[in-house]
Amino acid sequence: MAISTPKGLFDILPEPREQWCRSDLWSYLEEQIRTIAKQYGYREIRTPIFEKTELFARGVGEGSDIVRKEMYTFEDRGGRLMTLRPEGTAPVMRSFISHGLQQQGSVHKLFYIAPMFRYERQQAGRYRQHHQFGVEAVGQPQAEQDAEVIDLLYTFLTRLGLKGLHLQLNSLGDAECRQRHRQALIDYLTPQRERLSDDSRQRLEMNPLRILDSKALEDQEWISTAPSILGFLEEEAKSHFERLRQLLDGMGVPYTVNPHLVRGLDYYNRTVFEVQSSELGAQNSLGGGGRYDTLLNLLEGPDLPSIGFGCGLERILQAMVAQGVPLPPPTRPQIFLAPLGDRPLLYCSLLATELRHRGIRADLNTQGKRVKALLQTANAIGARSILVIGEEELDRGQANWQDLDERTSREIALLHDPSAMADQLLIMGFFQ
Ligand code: HAM
Repeated sequence: MAISTPKGLFDILPEPREQWCRSDLWSYLEEQIRTIAKQYGYREIRTPIFEKTELFARGVGEGSDIVRKEMYTFEDRGGRLMTLRPEGTAPVMRSFISHGLQQQGSVHKLFYIAPMFRYERQQAGRYRQHHQFGVEAVGQPQAEQDAEVIDLLYTFLTRLGLKGLHLQLNSLGDAECRQRHRQALIDYLTPQRERLSDDSRQRLEMNPLRILDSKALEDQEWISTAPSILGFLEEEAKSHFERLRQLLDGMGVPYTVNPHLVRGLDYYNRTVFEVQSSELGAQNSLGGGGRYDTLLNLLEGPDLPSIGFGCGLERILQAMVAQGVPLPPPTRPQIFLAPLGDRPLLYCSLLATELRHRGIRADLNTQGKRVKALLQTANAIGARSILVIGEEELDRGQANWQDLDERTSREIALLHDPSAMADQLLIMGFFQ
């Protein structure tokens, strides 16, 4: 039996069944990412695809779903525990520390485009390998840095042409206020313990904050009236949040404050945010992030504050397709050379090479037997023009050039030397 794709994985192909898996679109998205990242002053970082398991256990947090149930962990041949990267922040911090980047300056703004691995229950919009565009800005505690990161994510998504974006914003305060809020939540939820969903009951001891973003129906009644973190913020965290809101208002970035937005990773403090799209159903988060001022230090690095986000490329492309956003057309060959016979094939191979050396996208069919079939191939690959060359054309020194977009054709002179022929086609302006 043929081997199938493992559950939760997908291929990216030139002509896939589902539009969002088209490789051209992925390249386009990656180009947009590199452009915007540069405009905002972020530089690329690439870290390995797997890390020591303890990095995620410590960095992402033992209480998080990712560490508890979603990691792809394996023992290597040396008996060491390794984990396929489930997220990008902890590895970037590990790399920052490994290379002592703080010695190269106090501010580092980094971005990545990278695959992530999570053993998730299969569901639309949830994959076991997904790809993230992420940024991590290290070294600046001011709300201006938060606003920059949030504006970057929002601008990126709107520039792609996405509509119906909802940016949600919250502050989780600092350690002390979170502790007080945690206790208030436990006090409030414990009397309802038996009425909570199974998941929430488990979280009550481990991570009561996560109950706030439970989707279970039976939890909703308690969530809606649960104590809000915003009522517990320390003065500094409060004025940080107010300043951030003022900045986003000034930048024209629309948002809603959602005191129940907590996010699934343990490292966050103060600002957290998420951008959702109405098109995506249950898995509607296009991207999210927040401040994590203590993570570097927790991993035994310098005491530097940081903030970042990650957004899922699969979901972004799916939302673009669902919204009918005009997508860039596939890259098309400028000319399709269609030889009929052995001598023409030799000539066309050399001509194709000469054209490619001059920067023209030239394609060639080596097995054509009939003009009709060659024309069909040219159309199928979206070629802009076709030049059919048979023995007779070579003898006559003339061939028929067809512009497949304009549906016009003309006779052109065939020069014996493929290199001179390529020059002539360029001079005559065939590829403009
Ligand atoms: P996250 O919210 O776990 O955050 O993931 C970020 C984004 O990745 C999500 O909003 C979603 O678009 C996408 N995503 C996550 N899991 C899947 C999946 N199984 N299938 C498809 N897409 C998925 C983080 O990972 C943090 N490291 C973000 C961050 C960076 N915070 C600070 N800096």
